[in-house]
Amino acid sequence: MKVNNICCIGAGYVGGPTMAVIAQKNPDIKVTVVDINEKRIDAWNSNNFDELPIYEPGLSDVVKKARGRNLFFSTDINSAIIDSEMIFISVNTPTKTSGEGKGFAADLKYIESCANQIAEVSKTDKIIVEKSTVPVRTSEKIKKILNSKNKSIDFQILSNPEFLAEGTAMRDLQIPDRVIIGGDNTKKGNEAIQSLVEIYSSWVPKKNILTTNLWSSELSKLTANAFLAQRISSINSLSELCEETGADIEEVSKAVGMDSRIGNSFLKTSVGFGGSCFQKDILNLVYISRSIGLEKVANYWEQILIINKHQRDRFANKIYSLINKESLNKNVCILGWAFKKDTNDTRESAAIYVANNLIKSNIYLNVYDPKVKESQIFFDMNYINGNDKKNKEHISIYNNPIDCIHKTNIIAILTEWDEFKDYDWKNLYKKMSKPAYIFDGRNILDKVKLESIGFNYIGLGR
Ligand code: UDX
Ligand code: UDX
Repeated sequence: MKVNNICCIGAGYVGGPTMAVIAQKNPDIKVTVVDINEKRIDAWNSNNFDELPIYEPGLSDVVKKARGRNLFFSTDINSAIIDSEMIFISVNTPTKTSGEGKGFAADLKYIESCANQIAEVSKTDKIIVEKSTVPVRTSEKIKKILNSKNKSIDFQILSNPEFLAEGTAMRDLQIPDRVIIGGDNTKKGNEAIQSLVEIYSSWVPKKNILTTNLWSSELSKLTANAFLAQRISSINSLSELCEETGADIEEVSKAVGMDSRIGNSFLKTSVGFGGSCFQKDILNLVYISRSIGLEKVANYWEQILIINKHQRDRFANKIYSLINKESLNKNVCILGWAFKKDTNDTRESAAIYVANNLIKSNIYLNVYDPKVKESQIFFDMNYINGNDKKNKEHISIYNNPIDCIHKTNIIAILTEWDEFKDYDWKNLYKKMSKPAYIFDGRNILDKVKLESIGFNYIGLGR
């Protein structure tokens, strides 16, 4: 089937950029991105391109060119569903906070409500594309809802997981390592797969488009994220060993990464991985394995999360212990709140957990992040501990590093923003209380240079 109209439900971090690139590369296809959140849609339609709801390098240029031509943002979900031959579902799938699977399983209520809505309003055959990361066999659930609610229409379900990393989303979309499209191995299933292959072929070489069955596609996404997170937990676990033995994790990581069988990416020690995907997807993998009785498999993958939490906790403990031991000022400067550089996204950011541990020990925090707003920081803290009063008392937000270091002996780097590397550290040193410590939770600063200025430098695993 030739697709002329695409609808995407969910104008978030994934739906927005993905549809912008599909529209950019397929000017003959009308792409409408819809969302229940009116404010978000207004922001996508804003004439001030700095106001787009998502910050991704290169995104605003693409939106500028395609919006109004073949890319549209709207809250009229029903019309967009009716008019489209292909519908992407790109709504959020958070970890369940209640009911069966609480704390582990993905909450599919938004996916299910989309399926219900599609079944209710569709008048012609549709290809439904699962874009959100979902547990294996979710497509079966979607299929059941669609087929039981609307028997007169043929719905084909495809799984097309996203592999875009925030901050490099546009590059990952424009030059993907691979695109995976899973579908049913039936005549109609194969036709649906081909329709989506055609759309991606406008810019992705055919050899990089992998077609699979539905379950393989769904599981590939969880596996890819679990493998990436596993490398980070592996290196982070060794960072502690390095601290105890005198090895330097940066040297170990480099040496190991030079083995071409291992490769050097995702071997950077950190205060812990964050982001909307890693933790959630691994929890999902653990839940699925455990629920079918594969306890050892579940325990194996769960260990990645246990190490991640341990890394955040021990980082906060190091700061807290030093303050007590040296009777330092109880104000700590936190540089960086986003879960990684070049994004304003803070979901599952290590900073939130470190900050929470520190304020539990009655430490006061001065926070600066170049892209994250004050309201977001308090939202994150209230979400994690529900204690607005304590958060307001203990956390102050600054819009520059100079004010942020005022009255502090300790700076903790929690996000690897490039600007931190470029600071005039000599000047910052002068303005800090003494002795001055830097806890480099990302190992991004020059230890030798900082020590020559007078700082006590504490990196991870060195
Ligand atoms: C994505 C994926 O879809 C998720 O599965 C993955 O694991 C993380 O990334 P993301 O785009 O990051 O989600 O989520 P978010 O930025 O929260 O966007 C989801 C959007 O869907 C929101 O704007 C929300 O308003 C919208 N939504 C949600 C709907 O339009 N309808 C709903 O029923 C629910
Ligand atoms: C990830 C996957 O990379 C992407 O393919 C998937 O679609 C969504 O989840 P994202 O969460 O945007 O993308 O960021 P990513 O760059 O993978 O980083 C995740 C976390 O790991 C960040 O907190 C980052 O700082 C941390 N990280 C990454 C490390 O601590 N060390 C590393 O070596 C790499």
